[in-house]
Amino acid sequence: MRQKIVAGNWKMNKTFEEADQLLYDITKRLENLPSDVELIVCPPSVYLELATDIVEEDEVDLKVGAQNVSQFEAGAYTGEISAAMLSSMNMDYCIIGHSERRKYFGETHEALIGKVNHLLEYGIQPIFCCGEVLEEREAGNHFDVVKAQISDSLFHLSYQEISNVVIAYEPVWAIGTGKTASSEQAQEMHAFIRNLLKEKYDEDLAEVISILYGGSCNPKNAAELFANPDVDGGLIGGAALNADDFLKIAQSF
Ligand code: PGA
Repeated sequence: MRQKIVAGNWKMNKTFEEADQLLYDITKRLENLPSDVELIVCPPSVYLELATDIVEEDEVDLKVGAQNVSQFEAGAYTGEISAAMLSSMNMDYCIIGHSERRKYFGETHEALIGKVNHLLEYGIQPIFCCGEVLEEREAGNHFDVVKAQISDSLFHLSYQEISNVVIAYEPVWAIGTGKTASSEQAQEMHAFIRNLLKEKYDEDLAEVISILYGGSCNPKNAAELFANPDVDGGLIGGAALNADDFLKIAQSF
């Protein structure tokens, strides 16, 4: 059985007080969640310790993830945060390859290889994002684009290593636009990704990897998206900034 996951990507939002409030609002309502759903919050890195402290003190079943990690191991890389540092702060997950990082910060597949390797070395599960831009979908290249993103950055991993990776399919045209991929479009791409994993590794591996959908997922469309056989949950942006919406999404399986 694959792990069902709902992860909240807060991006560059919330002051310290607002982050504290949102974490409080989420953690105080966790009892209502189905126990087979892994709920993850990915706040900005300056609030990661706040999040792990709350989780530890309140002994709640909430995982914490970072939004980025350095491709480098350690040393003179001003402003960077290493996998070793995240690990020393008990991080469970880390998002990598988000389209905003690819677009605004030039995150290449070479950098992503460094990131995924370091995260796995330090026992942190990468949430690897992939997805095509609108022009690529309109030109009918979306499968090739996603295949290249996954094979270039993940297919050097061993069977054991890749079994710890979560994949998030996020069509770029659906991120923050209010335009969700249709349930059919999501299922089609998720099944395609699962088949890539089966061809490269094997069926058992393909069956255990969680593949999340991301892009304008909200409490209204989550149930339909999550009902697809190859959609194992969601990576949520805007709707993760509100505890009610975020928890409703997590109750949509
Ligand atoms: P969105 O963002 O839900 O606001 O579209 C999703 C994401 O970028 O992870």
